[in-house]
Amino acid sequence: MVEISEVKTSTAARDRAAAHTHIKGLGLDDEGIAKSIDSGFIGQQSAREACGVVVDMIKAKKFSGKAVLLAGAPGTGKTALALAVSQELGPKVPFCPIVGSEVYSAEVKKTEALMENFRRAIGIRIKETKEVYEGEVTEMTPEETENPLGGYGKTISHVVVGLKTAKGTKQLRLDPSIYESIQKEKISVGDVVYIEANTGSVKRVGRSDVYATEFDLEAEEYVPLPKGEVHKKKEIVQDVTLHDLDVANARPQGGQDIMSMMGQLLKPKKTEITEKLRSEINKVVQKYIDQGIAELIPGVLFIDEVHMLDLECFTYLNRALESSISPVVILATNRGMTTVRGSDGVVSAHGVPPDLVDRLLIIRTLPYSQDETKAIIESRASIEGSPLEADALDRLAVIGVETSLRYALQLLAPSFILTDANGRSVISVQDLEEAQDLFLDASRSLKTVQGDSSYLV
Ligand SMILES: Nc1ncnc2c1ncn2[C@@H]1O[C@H](COP(=O)(O)OP(=O)(O)OP(=O)(O)O)[C@@H](O)[C@H]1O
Ligand SMILES: [Mg+2]
Repeated sequence: MVEISEVKTSTAARDRAAAHTHIKGLGLDDEGIAKSIDSGFIGQQSAREACGVVVDMIKAKKFSGKAVLLAGAPGTGKTALALAVSQELGPKVPFCPIVGSEVYSAEVKKTEALMENFRRAIGIRIKETKEVYEGEVTEMTPEETENPLGGYGKTISHVVVGLKTAKGTKQLRLDPSIYESIQKEKISVGDVVYIEANTGSVKRVGRSDVYATEFDLEAEEYVPLPKGEVHKKKEIVQDVTLHDLDVANARPQGGQDIMSMMGQLLKPKKTEITEKLRSEINKVVQKYIDQGIAELIPGVLFIDEVHMLDLECFTYLNRALESSISPVVILATNRGMTTVRGSDGVVSAHGVPPDLVDRLLIIRTLPYSQDETKAIIESRASIEGSPLEADALDRLAVIGVETSLRYALQLLAPSFILTDANGRSVISVQDLEEAQDLFLDASRSLKTVQGDSSYLV
C-alpha cells in the first residue's frame, strides 16, 4: 500500500519566529502614551510615542512629502519601530520597506530603483462600477463561418453561451477572443463563470453545486448558483499602488484580471516602464482623483540603513519629497558622524547630507537598561520556545548590555540546542557559556582579527 498522509497547514507561529515576530504594534493607549510593556514592545517609550504621532499624522494625511529619521545605536529597536508603524497603519496603507544598499544593482540605475520603491509606497483606491455577467453555463456553441480569407477550413465567428442564475437565464453572443479564454480556463457546461463586460475577461468561479454528487473525489470546488440577475453592475473597490499601475500599463495586455479600467489608462503596446509612461499615468490618476473616482493613499517608504545611500540618491530623495504625490519616508540609521557616500569626503551627521538632515523629523532611540534588556530577552525566549533558568536570564541580560542586545538574542537558539543535547529542557548558565565560547560577538571577533595576523588572509 502506498502511504499518503495529509500535510498539516498550520505550523505553529513559534516554529518560524523571525527577528521581529513579537512586535505587534507600538503599544500606545488612547491618549498616545506608551505603556512600558505592550504589543511586544518594551521600554523605548518616547520613541514609541513619537512614532504614534507620526502614525496619526499619516492617517490624517498631513504628512506626505515629509520624512522621519530614526537614529540610535545598533539593536535599539529602530527597525522594530518602523515595522510597528506599518502594523499600526493597517494593511490598506502601502508600506514598502527597503535597505539602503538595495538600490545598487548592475541592471537598474540607483535612482530608478528608488523611484520604483517610491511608487510602491503610494496607494490609489479606485472605485469602479463593473458590468459583469455571472451564472452557470447551460450551453456553449461556437458558430463557424467560411474563412473570410478564402481557402479551406472554417473560423469561429462567435460563440453563444447560455448563463443561468437563481433569478433568470440569458444567452450571450461572445467574441471569438473570449472563446479562447473560455478554452484556456477549461470551462464546460455546468461551471459557474464570471465575464467582465468591458474587457471580456472570463473567470471560472467553480463547478455549480447542482452537479455535486456524493461519489466525488473532492478534486473540484463546488459553488452555489449565483443569486441575482445574470447581467449586473458591481461596485468594486480596489487598492493598488502607482507601481502596480506602471506594471499593468507597461505590459501589452497586462493586468486584465486586477484592473480593467486602470490597466488601460494608456494605449497598450508599451513594454517598458519609462519616465514618460509614469508621468502620463500620474496625469490620468490626477484626473481620476479630481473626478472623485480614485483616492490617493500616501503610504510609507521605509529606507533602513540609510547611510548606505550615496549623494546622488540623497539629491533624488530631496527632490522626490517635494513632488505633489509623495509618500511618507521613514529613514533609519545607526551611524553618527560619517562620510556621505559618493561625496568628496563630506562628513555629516548619520551620513546624510546636511540639507536633507535639516528637513527631517528626527526620533532618537536610546540604549536599553539591564532590566529592559532582560524583559526583551524573556519575551523573545518564550516566543522562540527556548526557556531560561532565572540565573541564566540574568546572565544573558548582562551579556546583552555588555556586548549587544542582538548578540544576546542570537545566543538563545544555539544555547537551546546545547541544552537539548545535554538532555535538559531549560537553558542553564553553563549552556550559555558554552554557546558564548562557540559563537563570538562582534567585539571579540574584531579583537581576534586584529590580534592574530596569521588567522585570516
Ligand atoms: N523595545 C523593544 N521591545 C522588544 N523587542 C525589541 C525592542 N527593541 C528591539 N527589539 C528587538 O531586538 C532586536 C534588534 O532590534 P532592531 O533590529 O530593531 O534594532 P535596530 O535599531 O534596527 O539595529 P541596527 O541599527 O543594527 O539595524 C529585534 O529582534 C527587535 O525586534
Ligand atoms: Mg535595523
